[in-house]
Amino acid sequence: MNVIIVKDQVEGGRKAADMVINAVKNGAKVLGLATGSTPETMYKDLIASDVDFTKMTSVNLDEYVGLAPEDDQSYHYFMAKHLFDAKPFAKSYVPNGLAKDADAETARYNKVIADNPIDLQVLGLGRNGHIGFNEPGSPIDAQTRKVALTESTIEANSRNFEHEEDVPKFAYSMGIGSIMKSHNIILMAWGTEKADAVKGLIEGPVTPDCPASILQKKDNVTVIVDEAAAAKL
Ligand code: GLP
Repeated sequence: MNVIIVKDQVEGGRKAADMVINAVKNGAKVLGLATGSTPETMYKDLIASDVDFTKMTSVNLDEYVGLAPEDDQSYHYFMAKHLFDAKPFAKSYVPNGLAKDADAETARYNKVIADNPIDLQVLGLGRNGHIGFNEPGSPIDAQTRKVALTESTIEANSRNFEHEEDVPKFAYSMGIGSIMKSHNIILMAWGTEKADAVKGLIEGPVTPDCPASILQKKDNVTVIVDEAAAAKL
């Protein structure tokens, strides 16, 4: 695991964007993308760059169950606003939060991932160590599935919603097994509220209690954290 400590999110986002641009220059065809406040500066830098994704495919990690793509809290909407409207891909996949049949939707998404092996996956980190929406206790070999969100995640994500009760209780998420198949991974984390999860990710035992810790078992993982998130290392 290559750990890079930066001053702040602006510097970290720039480093991550440079890595994405390099991957594209070196022939990457499929990017795995993440939502949340963490990758926002990286997306800004990608938009400001001359990188061209129009012949590439993107596959997103997750989506809230029950939200339509045009709902401004959905991850479809987030991706359009923060990247795709300015930098479109030939094809972009995000799980369908409105799918009527959860099993059919997860099977569809697993086929998407199998057909489009991910060259570079971008990850954020939940305060409880989750990646995607793989909450503590998630099986390490899981593929895409419907997951129940923990109270801690609902509370953390409620800052983006008007009322905490508006936060969906379920999501579709790529599983840890799917994430581990990507060739390269960049994980970013900023701020003191991520410091415990960063410690678990980098120094802790590999345990389902901190899902991100499984990344210790993988080659080609770069972790970019700011000084606040690195404070407990
Ligand atoms: C959500 C997303 C994760 C994200 C995490 C951290 O739960 N499913 O992919 O990494 O929150 O969010 P933020 O970057 O806003 O701190």
